[in-house]
Amino acid sequence: MEFQVAVISGDGIGPEIVREARKVLDQVGRVFGHTFHYEELLMGGASIDVHGIPLTDETVAKAKAADAVLMGSIGGDTTTSPWYQLPPDRRPEAGLLKIRKELKLFANVRPAYLYAELKNACPLREEIIGEGFDMVIMRELTGGLYFGARSTGEENGMLVARDSLVYSEEEIRRIAIRAFDIARKRRNKVTSVDKANVLDSSRLWRKVVEEVAADYPDVKLEHMLVDNCAMQLVKDPGQFDVILTENMFGDILSDEASMVTGSIGMLSSASLNETRFGLYEPSHGSAPDIAGQDLANPIATILSAAMMLRYSFDLDKEADSVEAAVKQVLADGYRTGDIYSEGCIKVGTVQMGDEIARRICR
Ligand code: IPM
Ligand code: MG
Repeated sequence: MEFQVAVISGDGIGPEIVREARKVLDQVGRVFGHTFHYEELLMGGASIDVHGIPLTDETVAKAKAADAVLMGSIGGDTTTSPWYQLPPDRRPEAGLLKIRKELKLFANVRPAYLYAELKNACPLREEIIGEGFDMVIMRELTGGLYFGARSTGEENGMLVARDSLVYSEEEIRRIAIRAFDIARKRRNKVTSVDKANVLDSSRLWRKVVEEVAADYPDVKLEHMLVDNCAMQLVKDPGQFDVILTENMFGDILSDEASMVTGSIGMLSSASLNETRFGLYEPSHGSAPDIAGQDLANPIATILSAAMMLRYSFDLDKEADSVEAAVKQVLADGYRTGDIYSEGCIKVGTVQMGDEIARRICR
């Protein structure tokens, strides 16, 4: 089969990690008889440098026309990069938020899984790791604080800034349904995370999640306050199956969950809308400090490409082959610096991509 993939390499380590993901996809194409056509699109700082804005309408239109979008990372060093001298709505991140909204990518799926081979890189103690852990964070991506009205202005001679956290019933319901559907294919448990002891939006969240849960009697629902969840993730990560949460909490908790797996360089993500279309990107940022040095771990991006095969292209066997190749490479001892431990073979971005591509098989 043939697929049109819009590619947003982005900034920092983006181009390097996307190159490796394409290498692996091309190998999947050779082994399984598919062709992936790529169109490179500009977003973030790369787009600011050419067009003066982080995302053009033309780029949005081209992304919409593709079967899926594969993304690296966007943004630069917020203290030194000239991109951050621009007004907030013209900075790199504004492009990412806009494309999420324009493509209606409300469901952000972020798996966090501890590879047996990476137990050494996990910062938690052996007895906490136990049998390991395998969870999915289902983060609402187009609502909440990220998209509510904001302003900064002078009131009574003092600067005051406002951000608003808004959720409608419908926004909560559709992401909750996704979380319960995914839980059914896993271990039948949803932990809905909120701050219902303080926030109205969280109280509505709880109410709607409970309504949705009534349609899934086979899935166990549990509510957890976000501060407690942050603690439970390092105390007993094995208790989680699917974590369902709003945009901002999901942003924070997914970084934490990825770090307990050993490295944020391992965590993939899919941002989905109501159709099969999705945008696939690693959960980590653009790491400008290590960009261009062949140091970045491309695995999160390669696993994001695997999610693209599975969710947008319905190519389960092909996705399995990528995930198996990643496991095999780890079992064979290859590590980028971020997940390196003694006795392993330290490799750079390019070699990691080569080793994974080489292990793709039917
Ligand atoms: C993420 C990132 C983005 C977010 C930033 C770059 C705007 O941290 O995808 O988690 O906060 O959503
Ligand atoms: Mg984040």
